[in-house]
Amino acid sequence: MPNTAKSGKPSKSGRPNWRHFNGVTVALVDDYLYGMLPKRDPVLAEMEDYAGAHDVPIVGPAVGRVLQQLALMINAKTVFELGSAIGYSTIWWAQAVGEDGRVIYTDGDSKNAERARGYFDRAGVARRITVHTGDALEYLSEQKQEFDIIFNDVDKEDYPRVLRLVPPRLRKGGLFITDNVLWSGRVAEKKPKDASTKAILEFNRLLSASPDFMTTILPIRDGMAVALKK
Ligand SMILES: C[S@@+](CC[C@H](N)C(=O)[O-])C[C@H]1O[C@@H](n2cnc3c(N)ncnc32)[C@H](O)[C@@H]1O
Repeated sequence: MPNTAKSGKPSKSGRPNWRHFNGVTVALVDDYLYGMLPKRDPVLAEMEDYAGAHDVPIVGPAVGRVLQQLALMINAKTVFELGSAIGYSTIWWAQAVGEDGRVIYTDGDSKNAERARGYFDRAGVARRITVHTGDALEYLSEQKQEFDIIFNDVDKEDYPRVLRLVPPRLRKGGLFITDNVLWSGRVAEKKPKDASTKAILEFNRLLSASPDFMTTILPIRDGMAVALKK
């Protein structure tokens, strides 16, 4: 099967690394979906290449597009992102919120933040983004405002803790979105042993049962939970 993605260093399977590492859809469907995507702007395409070559786990363009679409659907103007790495998903958000919107980038790694700033400048969205280097959960816990969207993409073992922080900091009708909730399908194992899978299972169970949210899980790439605040 030829690789239909437009960018990213191919892995042995012929897919760029950011695609290869943990998708849950079958390869043929995956290739079809990625082949349908419109061309990205050059900075996003360059970031995909960089992520592929350096094993940076970005959401990729199929999820990026869904994130942007969800933001446009609720006319989001404020987004808090936990775990931003080189700022790839941050740019999808920043494009959605427009000139008068604001996205908070957070990452624990200052080298990531430095690289991200360069991309934000070149993508023409730097003024919409506040860059915070440090612990994302701690920074979220300090926030006094309610956001339109909170996007969770930090270390998986922290997911249950993130869930506890979110409800008071998200407006009614806002979205709490979480990446990797199917964890390469490991959530379906009978007796999962690793701590990340266990934490994701706990997170999915708590989120689905929460009276604060109406939640669905989209089986795109590595699984994305979309929770609407009631
Ligand atoms: C999966 S990557 C984020 C990818 C990004 N959302 C994208 O799609 O372009 C996860 C990032 O979260 C950061 N991270 C993990 N736990 C964190 C924490 N508690 N606080 C801040 N950053 C964290 C890591 O440094 C890593 O760069």
